Amino acid sequence: MFEVSSEKLLLWIQNINTNEEDRDSLYQLIDLRGGISRSEINSFKIKPQKVVNMKVSLDSLSENWNEFIQIKKPIQYICNSCYWRDLNLEVNKYVLIPRVETEQITDIALNLISDSKKELIIADLGTGSGAIAISLALKNSLWTVLATDIEQNAINLANNNFKKYSNTNNLKLFCGRWWQPLKKYAGKINIAISNPPYIPLKVYENLPISVKNHEPQIALNGGDDGLLHIREIIEEAPKYLKKDGWLLLENHFDQAQKVKTLMMHYGFESIRIVKDLYGIGRFTIGRYK
Ligand SMILES: C[S@@+](CC[C@H](N)C(=O)[O-])C[C@H]1O[C@@H](n2cnc3c(N)ncnc32)[C@H](O)[C@@H]1O
Repeated sequence: MFEVSSEKLLLWIQNINTNEEDRDSLYQLIDLRGGISRSEINSFKIKPQKVVNMKVSLDSLSENWNEFIQIKKPIQYICNSCYWRDLNLEVNKYVLIPRVETEQITDIALNLISDSKKELIIADLGTGSGAIAISLALKNSLWTVLATDIEQNAINLANNNFKKYSNTNNLKLFCGRWWQPLKKYAGKINIAISNPPYIPLKVYENLPISVKNHEPQIALNGGDDGLLHIREIIEEAPKYLKKDGWLLLENHFDQAQKVKTLMMHYGFESIRIVKDLYGIGRFTIGRYK
Protein backbone atom coordinates (compact mmCIF):
# COMPACT_ATOMS: atom_id res chain seq x y z
CA MET A 1 0.00 0.00 0.00
CA PHE A 2 1.11 3.55 -0.71
CA GLU A 3 0.20 6.21 1.79
CA VAL A 4 -0.75 9.63 0.53
CA SER A 5 -2.72 12.45 2.15
CA SER A 6 -6.14 13.20 0.68
CA GLU A 7 -4.96 16.75 0.11
CA LYS A 8 -2.05 15.54 -2.03
CA LEU A 9 -4.32 13.22 -4.03
CA LEU A 10 -6.82 16.05 -4.69
CA LEU A 11 -3.99 18.33 -5.74
CA TRP A 12 -2.62 15.65 -8.09
CA ILE A 13 -6.04 15.36 -9.72
CA GLN A 14 -6.40 19.12 -9.96
CA ASN A 15 -3.00 19.46 -11.64
CA ILE A 16 -3.94 17.12 -14.43
CA ASN A 17 -5.13 19.32 -17.19
CA THR A 18 -7.91 17.42 -18.90
CA ASN A 19 -11.29 17.81 -20.57
CA GLU A 20 -14.57 16.56 -19.02
CA GLU A 21 -14.63 13.31 -21.03
CA ASP A 22 -11.10 12.34 -20.07
CA ARG A 23 -11.83 13.32 -16.48
CA ASP A 24 -14.08 10.25 -16.22
CA SER A 25 -11.16 8.14 -17.44
CA LEU A 26 -8.92 9.73 -14.84
CA TYR A 27 -11.30 8.74 -12.03
CA GLN A 28 -11.58 5.28 -13.58
CA LEU A 29 -7.79 4.95 -13.47
CA ILE A 30 -7.61 6.02 -9.82
CA ASP A 31 -10.37 3.54 -9.02
CA LEU A 32 -9.18 0.50 -11.01
CA ARG A 33 -5.46 0.94 -10.37
CA GLY A 34 -5.30 2.99 -7.20
CA GLY A 35 -8.27 1.35 -5.49
CA ILE A 36 -9.94 4.67 -4.56
CA SER A 37 -13.43 5.27 -5.97
CA ARG A 38 -14.75 8.59 -7.24
CA SER A 39 -17.25 8.83 -4.39
CA GLU A 40 -14.43 8.35 -1.85
CA ILE A 41 -12.49 11.11 -3.58
CA ASN A 42 -15.53 13.39 -3.42
CA SER A 43 -15.89 12.65 0.27
CA PHE A 44 -12.29 13.83 0.86
CA LYS A 45 -13.37 17.27 -0.32
CA ILE A 46 -15.77 17.50 2.62
CA LYS A 47 -13.85 15.41 5.11
CA PRO A 48 -10.10 15.39 4.36
CA GLN A 49 -8.11 12.38 5.53
CA LYS A 50 -4.53 12.44 6.72
CA VAL A 51 -3.74 9.13 5.15
CA VAL A 52 -5.26 7.45 2.13
CA ASN A 53 -3.98 3.96 1.31
CA MET A 54 -3.54 3.51 -2.41
CA LYS A 55 -2.63 0.32 -4.28
CA VAL A 56 -0.04 2.19 -6.38
CA SER A 57 1.97 5.39 -6.01
CA LEU A 58 0.97 8.70 -7.60
CA ASP A 59 4.11 8.47 -9.76
CA SER A 60 2.90 5.16 -11.12
CA LEU A 61 -0.54 6.65 -11.79
CA SER A 62 1.13 9.54 -13.62
CA GLU A 63 2.94 7.05 -15.87
CA ASN A 64 -0.36 5.28 -16.61
CA TRP A 65 -2.05 8.57 -17.34
CA ASN A 66 0.67 9.53 -19.82
CA GLU A 67 0.17 6.22 -21.62
CA PHE A 68 -3.54 6.97 -21.88
CA ILE A 69 -2.92 10.48 -23.23
CA GLN A 70 -0.02 9.68 -25.53
CA ILE A 71 -1.02 6.43 -27.19
CA LYS A 72 -4.75 6.53 -26.39
CA LYS A 73 -4.63 3.14 -24.69
CA PRO A 74 -7.97 2.61 -22.94
CA ILE A 75 -7.78 2.77 -19.15
CA GLN A 76 -9.29 -0.73 -18.93
CA TYR A 77 -6.33 -2.21 -20.84
CA ILE A 78 -3.85 -0.19 -18.80
CA CYS A 79 -5.42 -1.59 -15.63
CA ASN A 80 -6.26 -5.01 -17.13
CA SER A 81 -9.66 -4.67 -15.57
CA CYS A 82 -13.12 -3.26 -16.19
CA TYR A 83 -16.49 -2.98 -14.51
CA TRP A 84 -19.46 -4.56 -16.30
CA ARG A 85 -22.84 -4.99 -14.62
CA ASP A 86 -21.91 -6.05 -11.09
CA LEU A 87 -18.68 -7.72 -12.21
CA ASN A 88 -15.08 -6.62 -12.22
CA LEU A 89 -13.59 -8.49 -15.18
CA GLU A 90 -10.00 -8.93 -16.25
CA VAL A 91 -9.41 -7.74 -19.82
CA ASN A 92 -6.37 -7.89 -22.09
CA LYS A 93 -5.47 -7.11 -25.69
CA TYR A 94 -7.14 -10.30 -26.95
CA VAL A 95 -10.63 -9.27 -25.88
CA LEU A 96 -12.96 -6.37 -26.47
CA ILE A 97 -13.67 -4.14 -23.47
CA PRO A 98 -17.28 -5.12 -22.74
CA ARG A 99 -19.51 -2.13 -23.45
CA VAL A 100 -22.15 -0.61 -21.23
CA GLU A 101 -24.88 -1.02 -23.89
CA THR A 102 -24.23 -4.78 -23.98
CA GLU A 103 -25.19 -5.04 -20.29
CA GLN A 104 -28.83 -4.93 -21.41
CA ILE A 105 -28.61 -8.19 -23.36
CA THR A 106 -28.37 -10.12 -20.09
CA ASP A 107 -31.62 -8.49 -18.93
CA ILE A 108 -33.32 -9.27 -22.25
CA ALA A 109 -32.35 -12.93 -21.80
CA LEU A 110 -33.47 -12.98 -18.16
CA ASN A 111 -36.85 -11.51 -19.12
CA LEU A 112 -37.44 -14.41 -21.51
CA ILE A 113 -37.10 -16.93 -18.71
CA SER A 114 -40.36 -17.42 -16.83
CA ASP A 115 -39.51 -20.47 -14.73
CA SER A 116 -36.27 -20.13 -12.78
CA LYS A 117 -36.54 -23.74 -11.55
CA LYS A 118 -36.18 -25.13 -15.06
CA GLU A 119 -32.85 -26.44 -16.36
CA LEU A 120 -31.83 -24.48 -19.44
CA ILE A 121 -29.03 -24.50 -21.96
CA ILE A 122 -27.86 -21.03 -22.89
CA ALA A 123 -25.12 -20.22 -25.42
CA ASP A 124 -22.96 -17.10 -25.71
CA LEU A 125 -21.25 -17.03 -29.11
CA GLY A 126 -18.09 -14.89 -29.24
CA THR A 127 -17.76 -14.58 -25.48
CA GLY A 128 -14.57 -12.45 -25.32
CA SER A 129 -13.90 -11.69 -21.64
CA GLY A 130 -16.89 -13.89 -20.81
CA ALA A 131 -19.07 -10.97 -19.68
CA ILE A 132 -22.47 -12.17 -20.95
CA ALA A 133 -21.86 -15.87 -20.24
CA ILE A 134 -20.55 -15.25 -16.73
CA SER A 135 -23.39 -12.90 -15.79
CA LEU A 136 -25.89 -15.62 -16.75
CA ALA A 137 -24.01 -18.59 -15.29
CA LEU A 138 -23.83 -16.77 -11.94
CA LYS A 139 -27.57 -16.08 -11.95
CA ASN A 140 -28.67 -19.69 -11.75
CA SER A 141 -26.65 -22.87 -11.35
CA LEU A 142 -29.47 -24.85 -13.01
CA TRP A 143 -28.55 -23.19 -16.27
CA THR A 144 -25.72 -24.63 -18.33
CA VAL A 145 -24.01 -21.81 -20.17
CA LEU A 146 -21.94 -22.68 -23.24
CA ALA A 147 -19.52 -20.01 -24.42
CA THR A 148 -17.50 -20.09 -27.63
CA ASP A 149 -14.80 -17.87 -29.11
CA ILE A 150 -12.40 -18.23 -32.03
CA GLU A 151 -9.60 -16.78 -29.87
CA GLN A 152 -8.06 -19.25 -27.39
CA ASN A 153 -6.66 -16.39 -25.27
CA ALA A 154 -10.19 -15.08 -24.82
CA ILE A 155 -11.38 -18.51 -23.69
CA ASN A 156 -8.56 -18.68 -21.11
CA LEU A 157 -9.38 -15.21 -19.83
CA ALA A 158 -13.12 -15.90 -19.62
CA ASN A 159 -12.33 -19.04 -17.65
CA ASN A 160 -10.21 -17.06 -15.14
CA ASN A 161 -12.92 -14.42 -14.86
CA PHE A 162 -15.53 -17.03 -14.05
CA LYS A 163 -13.31 -18.80 -11.50
CA LYS A 164 -12.92 -15.50 -9.66
CA TYR A 165 -16.67 -15.51 -8.94
CA SER A 166 -17.69 -19.13 -8.80
CA ASN A 167 -16.49 -22.67 -8.25
CA THR A 168 -19.50 -24.20 -9.98
CA ASN A 169 -19.05 -25.91 -13.33
CA ASN A 170 -22.13 -24.60 -15.15
CA LEU A 171 -20.05 -22.52 -17.57
CA LYS A 172 -18.43 -24.51 -20.36
CA LEU A 173 -15.98 -22.77 -22.66
CA PHE A 174 -15.04 -23.85 -26.17
CA CYS A 175 -12.57 -22.47 -28.70
CA GLY A 176 -13.94 -22.50 -32.23
CA ARG A 177 -16.06 -20.82 -34.85
CA TRP A 178 -19.48 -19.62 -33.66
CA TRP A 179 -21.68 -22.72 -33.24
CA GLN A 180 -19.16 -25.27 -34.45
CA PRO A 181 -17.86 -26.46 -31.05
CA LEU A 182 -21.46 -27.04 -29.93
CA LYS A 183 -22.33 -29.98 -32.22
CA LYS A 184 -23.10 -32.12 -29.18
CA TYR A 185 -25.82 -29.62 -28.19
CA ALA A 186 -27.49 -29.44 -31.62
CA GLY A 187 -31.25 -28.97 -31.21
CA LYS A 188 -30.96 -28.51 -27.43
CA ILE A 189 -30.15 -24.84 -26.88
CA ASN A 190 -32.93 -22.78 -25.29
CA ILE A 191 -31.39 -19.32 -25.67
CA ALA A 192 -28.43 -18.28 -27.82
CA ILE A 193 -26.91 -14.84 -27.45
CA SER A 194 -24.24 -13.13 -29.47
CA ASN A 195 -22.60 -9.75 -29.63
CA PRO A 196 -20.61 -10.55 -32.78
CA PRO A 197 -18.24 -8.28 -34.75
CA TYR A 198 -20.67 -6.10 -36.71
CA ILE A 199 -18.82 -2.91 -37.69
CA PRO A 200 -18.76 -2.46 -41.49
CA LEU A 201 -15.17 -2.50 -42.81
CA LYS A 202 -15.20 1.16 -43.96
CA VAL A 203 -16.51 2.31 -40.58
CA TYR A 204 -13.94 0.10 -38.83
CA GLU A 205 -11.13 1.76 -40.75
CA ASN A 206 -12.15 5.15 -39.40
CA LEU A 207 -12.67 4.22 -35.76
CA PRO A 208 -10.88 6.31 -33.13
CA ILE A 209 -7.27 5.31 -32.38
CA SER A 210 -8.25 4.20 -28.88
CA VAL A 211 -10.35 1.44 -30.46
CA LYS A 212 -8.55 0.70 -33.72
CA ASN A 213 -5.02 0.54 -32.30
CA HIS A 214 -5.86 -1.26 -29.08
CA GLU A 215 -8.95 -3.44 -29.37
CA PRO A 216 -8.77 -6.69 -31.40
CA GLN A 217 -9.86 -6.29 -35.00
CA ILE A 218 -11.36 -9.78 -34.92
CA ALA A 219 -13.83 -8.60 -32.27
CA LEU A 220 -15.10 -5.65 -34.31
CA ASN A 221 -14.74 -6.05 -38.06
CA GLY A 222 -17.97 -7.42 -39.55
CA GLY A 223 -16.83 -7.41 -43.21
CA ASP A 224 -18.04 -5.18 -46.05
CA ASP A 225 -21.60 -4.64 -44.82
CA GLY A 226 -20.96 -5.55 -41.19
CA LEU A 227 -23.30 -8.53 -41.42
CA LEU A 228 -20.80 -11.25 -42.33
CA HIS A 229 -20.90 -12.95 -38.92
CA ILE A 230 -24.52 -12.13 -38.11
CA ARG A 231 -25.54 -13.88 -41.34
CA GLU A 232 -23.54 -16.99 -40.46
CA ILE A 233 -24.92 -17.12 -36.91
CA ILE A 234 -28.54 -16.80 -38.06
CA GLU A 235 -28.11 -19.29 -40.90
CA GLU A 236 -26.71 -21.98 -38.56
CA ALA A 237 -29.03 -21.24 -35.64
CA PRO A 238 -31.87 -23.60 -36.67
CA LYS A 239 -29.53 -26.61 -36.27
CA TYR A 240 -28.63 -25.73 -32.71
CA LEU A 241 -31.70 -24.11 -31.17
CA LYS A 242 -34.42 -26.16 -29.57
CA LYS A 243 -37.89 -25.66 -31.05
CA ASP A 244 -39.19 -22.36 -29.60
CA GLY A 245 -35.61 -21.41 -28.68
CA TRP A 246 -34.55 -17.77 -28.79
CA LEU A 247 -31.73 -16.06 -30.65
CA LEU A 248 -30.62 -12.68 -29.27
CA LEU A 249 -28.24 -10.59 -31.33
CA GLU A 250 -26.58 -7.25 -30.73
CA ASN A 251 -26.18 -5.24 -33.93
CA HIS A 252 -24.86 -1.91 -35.22
CA PHE A 253 -27.14 1.12 -34.85
CA ASP A 254 -28.58 0.83 -38.38
CA GLN A 255 -28.68 -2.96 -38.89
CA ALA A 256 -31.75 -4.07 -36.92
CA GLN A 257 -34.17 -4.12 -39.88
CA LYS A 258 -31.73 -6.15 -41.97
CA VAL A 259 -31.16 -8.57 -39.10
CA LYS A 260 -34.91 -8.91 -38.71
CA THR A 261 -35.29 -9.74 -42.41
CA LEU A 262 -32.54 -12.36 -42.15
CA MET A 263 -34.21 -13.94 -39.13
CA MET A 264 -37.56 -14.08 -40.96
CA HIS A 265 -35.86 -15.73 -43.93
CA TYR A 266 -34.44 -18.51 -41.73
CA GLY A 267 -37.73 -19.38 -40.04
CA PHE A 268 -37.76 -17.19 -36.94
CA GLU A 269 -40.98 -15.78 -35.51
CA SER A 270 -41.91 -13.30 -32.74
CA ILE A 271 -39.06 -11.10 -33.97
CA ARG A 272 -38.53 -7.92 -31.98
CA ILE A 273 -36.11 -5.04 -32.19
CA VAL A 274 -35.13 -3.87 -28.72
CA LYS A 275 -33.84 -0.33 -28.21
CA ASP A 276 -30.81 0.39 -26.06
CA LEU A 277 -30.60 3.10 -23.40
CA TYR A 278 -29.93 5.69 -26.13
CA GLY A 279 -33.07 4.76 -28.10
CA ILE A 280 -31.13 2.87 -30.80
CA GLY A 281 -32.44 -0.46 -32.17
CA ARG A 282 -29.41 -2.27 -30.78
CA PHE A 283 -30.76 -5.79 -30.28
CA THR A 284 -32.77 -8.08 -32.54
CA ILE A 285 -34.36 -11.13 -31.02
CA GLY A 286 -36.41 -13.93 -32.53
CA ARG A 287 -37.82 -17.33 -31.72
CA TYR A 288 -37.11 -20.40 -33.84
CA LYS A 289 -40.33 -22.29 -34.52
C1 LIG B 1 -17.84 -7.81 -30.23
S1 LIG B 1 -16.83 -9.01 -29.43
C2 LIG B 1 -17.93 -9.45 -28.09
C3 LIG B 1 -17.23 -9.96 -26.88
C4 LIG B 1 -18.15 -10.15 -25.68
N1 LIG B 1 -19.21 -11.08 -25.96
C5 LIG B 1 -18.76 -8.81 -25.27
O1 LIG B 1 -19.95 -8.58 -25.49
O2 LIG B 1 -18.02 -8.00 -24.72
C6 LIG B 1 -16.95 -10.37 -30.53
C7 LIG B 1 -16.23 -11.64 -30.09
O3 LIG B 1 -16.40 -12.62 -31.12
C8 LIG B 1 -15.19 -13.33 -31.29
N2 LIG B 1 -15.17 -13.86 -32.67
C9 LIG B 1 -14.84 -13.24 -33.81
N3 LIG B 1 -14.99 -14.06 -34.87
C10 LIG B 1 -15.43 -15.24 -34.36
C11 LIG B 1 -15.79 -16.49 -34.95
N4 LIG B 1 -15.72 -16.69 -36.27
N5 LIG B 1 -16.23 -17.47 -34.15
C12 LIG B 1 -16.32 -17.29 -32.80
N6 LIG B 1 -15.99 -16.13 -32.19
C13 LIG B 1 -15.56 -15.12 -32.96
C14 LIG B 1 -14.10 -12.33 -31.01
O4 LIG B 1 -12.89 -12.98 -30.65
C15 LIG B 1 -14.73 -11.52 -29.88
O5 LIG B 1 -14.38 -12.04 -28.63
